[in-house]
Amino acid sequence: MAAVLTRDIVKTFDEINAVNGISLRVPDGEFMVLLGPSGCGKTTLLRIICGLEQQTSGDLLIGGNIVNDIPPRARGIAMMFQSYGLYPHYTVRNNIAFPLRTQRMPSQDIQKKVGWAAQLLGIGHLLDRRPRQLSGGERQRVALARALVREPTALLLDEPLSNLDAKLRTSARQEIKNFQQRVGLTTIYVTHDQVEAMGMGDRIAVIDHGRVRQVGTPIEIYQDPADLFVATFVGAPPMNIVTCNGGGYLGFRPENFLPRDMIGDDGVTEFSFRVDRSEYLGSERIVYGVMDGFDSKQPITAKLPPAHVAEGSVRPGEWHRFAVKNSELRRFEASGNRSTRH
Ligand SMILES: Nc1ncnc2c1ncn2[C@@H]1O[C@H](COP(=O)(O)OP(=O)(O)O)[C@@H](O)[C@H]1O
Ligand SMILES: [Mg+2]
Repeated sequence: MAAVLTRDIVKTFDEINAVNGISLRVPDGEFMVLLGPSGCGKTTLLRIICGLEQQTSGDLLIGGNIVNDIPPRARGIAMMFQSYGLYPHYTVRNNIAFPLRTQRMPSQDIQKKVGWAAQLLGIGHLLDRRPRQLSGGERQRVALARALVREPTALLLDEPLSNLDAKLRTSARQEIKNFQQRVGLTTIYVTHDQVEAMGMGDRIAVIDHGRVRQVGTPIEIYQDPADLFVATFVGAPPMNIVTCNGGGYLGFRPENFLPRDMIGDDGVTEFSFRVDRSEYLGSERIVYGVMDGFDSKQPITAKLPPAHVAEGSVRPGEWHRFAVKNSELRRFEASGNRSTRH
């Protein structure tokens, strides 16, 4: 196991800065999630870390050693791709053995290692099947076994769950996380899905346009977003942002709307909004509307426990007062950065 450190990594393709100066420290044993929209440079950064791509500038350190010029295989890092890349005509056994065969390991040792990896992932009974005879979740475990068979010091996962259906994704998420905790493997996990990031990461690095916007625990990222990008990228529905008189912004989450009987309490700020429509989702009701803004009408979303809003009590076109605790308001500068004034 080893810590991974990137120091001001830049990668330029033609004119595009795919990675724009990323410095990131992933301590030994940490599960770090890189979260960002499609095209923000996540895959490129992973490919640089495992050595499939050479950075334009900056240093990469693994276990404290600079590995800029070390070829991929010698870096001791495993990468699992979005598509898994299993060989369809090989059995599971031979898929897992493949990285060891290319290392010319004696076949007895290969069998031992394959057995070890298969046991680790609970796929011992699947060794003689071919990929097409496996479910999506089983394929994923085989790909993981193949990534781990060389006992890497760190594991890189690039959107590994994107090919699974929603239900399987939830269980696969827990499987990967349990496995990682059990083995204590330094892991960098790429996703554009903020729910995955929140649920899995020890820490999350939020990336946009090849830059890190914020690094923090899921709680820090959610409660204290560093800027408007992070505030609106993490959380569904996203944080409400309304412009203020002075040109800055005020943010509050859809779940921050207080019950009506708290309007007028100390330490709350009151607003009013017009209901446009609402959706009943069983555990909650999502209300979409517009707020009487400071200089214009601003769209807002409220997530209310159904108990707070009896059926038919929020009708389109009605104006309602609502309140948010001052401690849950977040202020942003016109530049988008978090305001230091409170
Ligand atoms: N080999 C390449 N040649 C040219 N542009 C590339 C190449 N790989 C990636 N890019 C560009 O770099 C940017 C980041 O891509 P990528 O790292 O794949 O993003 P992500 O994985 O976050 O979706 C994109 O604009 C993409 O088009
Ligand atoms: Mg990608």
